[in-house]
Amino acid sequence: MAPFGCWGLPATLLVLLCCPGAGEAFEVYIRPETLVVEPEEYREVNCSTNCDQPERGGLETSLNKTLLAQGPQWKSYLVSNISQNMVLYCYFSCSGNLQLEVLNITVYKPPKQVTLKLQPSWVAVGKPFTMECTVPAVEPLESLTLSLLRGNETLHTQTFGRENPAPQEATATFNSTAHREDKHYNFSCLATLDLESRGGSVFSSVSDPQMLKVYEPMQDSQMPIIIAAVSVLLFLFVASILLCFAFSQRWRQRRTGTYGVRASWVRLQRAFRAQ
Ligand SMILES: *[C@@H]1O[C@H](CO)[C@@H](O)[C@H](O)[C@H]1NC(C)=O
Ligand SMILES: *[C@@H]1O[C@H](CO)[C@@H](O)[C@H](O)[C@H]1NC(C)=O
Ligand SMILES: *[C@@H]1O[C@H](CO)[C@@H](O)[C@H](O)[C@H]1NC(C)=O
Ligand SMILES: *[C@@H]1O[C@H](CO)[C@@H](O)[C@H](O)[C@H]1NC(C)=O
Ligand SMILES: *[C@@H]1O[C@H](CO)[C@@H](O)[C@H](O)[C@H]1NC(C)=O
Ligand SMILES: *[C@@H]1O[C@H](CO)[C@@H](O)[C@H](O)[C@H]1NC(C)=O
Ligand SMILES: *[C@@H]1O[C@H](CO)[C@@H](O)[C@H](O)[C@H]1NC(C)=O
Repeated sequence: MAPFGCWGLPATLLVLLCCPGAGEAFEVYIRPETLVVEPEEYREVNCSTNCDQPERGGLETSLNKTLLAQGPQWKSYLVSNISQNMVLYCYFSCSGNLQLEVLNITVYKPPKQVTLKLQPSWVAVGKPFTMECTVPAVEPLESLTLSLLRGNETLHTQTFGRENPAPQEATATFNSTAHREDKHYNFSCLATLDLESRGGSVFSSVSDPQMLKVYEPMQDSQMPIIIAAVSVLLFLFVASILLCFAFSQRWRQRRTGTYGVRASWVRLQRAFRAQ
């Protein structure tokens, strides 16, 4: 266990508060100055001081730590299994005065799997559709921005407050109206985790592109016109077939009628000659 135990830190703070100015004679340094890690990572932390002959010193943390090396003015540790945001303290005492330095550790999970859904993906011009972007297991959420894009144009950006409990799924939704030109664009979702203010870097990931199928709406006023046109065409078609049929029937009757007359005339002549 660390030399201060559980009540050690408040005690050291009390010393610092009760004796202002007493620690000015020397400094304590903690390196690195910022630590931004993924869960379960381990890192080397170096506590040092400019006090010539510090009486004692070290690293105060609830994490497992291993002393790697030390000199008269420094101690180097390996801290392991960092699993959540926390604070480390380096301390040294010099001529009876205690000084400490703080290191904030940020644990992050970069956005890896970004999914965009367009609902419905088949929509009429002027009708609404919803873009929904989801990113599982990303943190810290207050460093995350989700941007919903049409081509390279940002339609909506969403940021997240501290109140969101982590780790969880981050979601951004945006309701839009389908435009005729939308079918020429790819829709996508860009997730950016910006840890620069915490001493880290920027991680970003983009979803697969999604296309919106946009069709011309069948307007209500067009429907009766189409039905009427189809009915008229159908009527004309049926009428022409009927006319055709009737006409050909009459024509056949007339031809056979003529033949009948001629045949009986021939028969009549033959009968006359035979006599
Ligand atoms: C720790 O820091 C001190 C002071 O900056 C330096 O002299 C020493 O070499 C460092 N130790 C390691 C292991 O990096
Ligand atoms: C520290 O290490 C021990 C054994 O190596 C392990 O049982 C324990 O859970 C670790 N503690 C933390 C906070 O990681
Ligand atoms: C790492 O830390 C977590 C939670 O603090 C603990 O459950 C786990 O046992 C630790 N793993 C090791 C290898 O110490
Ligand atoms: C460390 O975190 C505390 C709050 O948790 C904040 O007030 C402080 O400014 C941070 N220090 C650094 C060096 O980022
Ligand atoms: C967006 O794309 C258009 C063409 O698709 C291009 O002309 C324009 O420069 C791009 N804008 C940005 C900010 O990249
Ligand atoms: C989007 O529209 C749906 C219904 O179509 C509604 O339930 C939802 O709250 C809307 N979302 C936003 C962000 O306006
Ligand atoms: C949309 O994305 C697909 C697949 O990545 C690509 O082949 C196509 O060229 C893109 N279209 C536009 C308009 O950017």
